[in-house]
Amino acid sequence: MFEEQRLFGLATNLMVGTVVFSLIAALIVFRFLTVRLRMLSESIEAFRASGFTTPVPLTLPGKLDDEIYRLSAAFQAMSERIAMQLGQLEQVDRQRRELLANVSHDLRTPLASMQGYLETMLIRADELTSEERNRYLQVAVKHCERLGKLVQDLFELTKLEAHEVNPQIETFPIAELAQDVVQKFALKAQKCQITLVAKCEPDCPPVRADIGMIERVLENLIENAMRYTPVGGEIGVEVRPAGARVELRVRDTGEGIRGEELHNIFDRYYRVDRSESGGTGNAGLGLAITRRIVELHGGDIQVESAPGLGTTFIVDLAVA
Ligand SMILES: Nc1ncnc2c1ncn2[C@@H]1O[C@H](COP(=O)(O)OP(=O)(O)OP(=O)(O)O)[C@@H](O)[C@H]1O
Ligand SMILES: [Mg+2]
Repeated sequence: MFEEQRLFGLATNLMVGTVVFSLIAALIVFRFLTVRLRMLSESIEAFRASGFTTPVPLTLPGKLDDEIYRLSAAFQAMSERIAMQLGQLEQVDRQRRELLANVSHDLRTPLASMQGYLETMLIRADELTSEERNRYLQVAVKHCERLGKLVQDLFELTKLEAHEVNPQIETFPIAELAQDVVQKFALKAQKCQITLVAKCEPDCPPVRADIGMIERVLENLIENAMRYTPVGGEIGVEVRPAGARVELRVRDTGEGIRGEELHNIFDRYYRVDRSESGGTGNAGLGLAITRRIVELHGGDIQVESAPGLGTTFIVDLAVA
């Protein structure tokens, strides 16, 4: 009888012990799971509180490759992507607003000028001599041309940036093109008393590129060189082979560009001298267009400059 009671007591103790042990074990597992879930939910909350801009790194205790760990890793990757895309969207929006502000400023100046001249012609129609009328009309036409150039440049750059331009690639002698473009500027250079020379090496191989676009690159670089080179200066356009590439150099003896400005000049709307207003028709788009065209051809554009001594732009293109 006594033996039975002892056995019964032992069995009861064992059962109670097992139940207590199971309870403690379940509690530990439960706590382990809830701690990790709580950390995950706190991370999600912190990400939301940061305005979805700062992804929170998830550092879960234990290195278990279970569902919670995979869920956390997926959330971390997702939050990083959301933050990155949000950043990109904000940047695009900032650029769009900047572009709108710059465009409206640059369009306003020549438009106001043109309106002024045309209104004067209307109001004083009876008093104006034919020379005066001609002069006013010429000024209005000039502003009209500037507006046209600005709109055309903007249109071109927007299309290049949106990758909507397909270059018509063909093989052509780059040296001949350089000489033709230099020829186009010869009269203007003469008027500005600037020496403009083309130096093309005779054994220069042809390149594979869009001829119209490369012409545009040369025009932009020569136009800049003319604009920033004083009377008596010199501009040289050189074409020479450089290994498997062809190097195109536009060198001037103009005012040069300070070192700290060199990184910015290829940005759209960047002008070293901001006081050079949009009224002059120089919006600061030329080099941005030039760089996009060169990149579209898998080439590269570099600039070297010494203030007071001159500037050299170097474009390299693949040979045919
Ligand atoms: N050869 C150069 N010598 C000195 N400064 C230059 C030269 N080329 C460019 N720059 C500087 O870089 C800036 C940007 O040139 P970019 O061609 O993009 O614009 P822009 O000539 O002012 O206007 P746009 O080309 O739109 O008519 C210029 O405003 C000028 O300050
Ligand atoms: Mg320019």
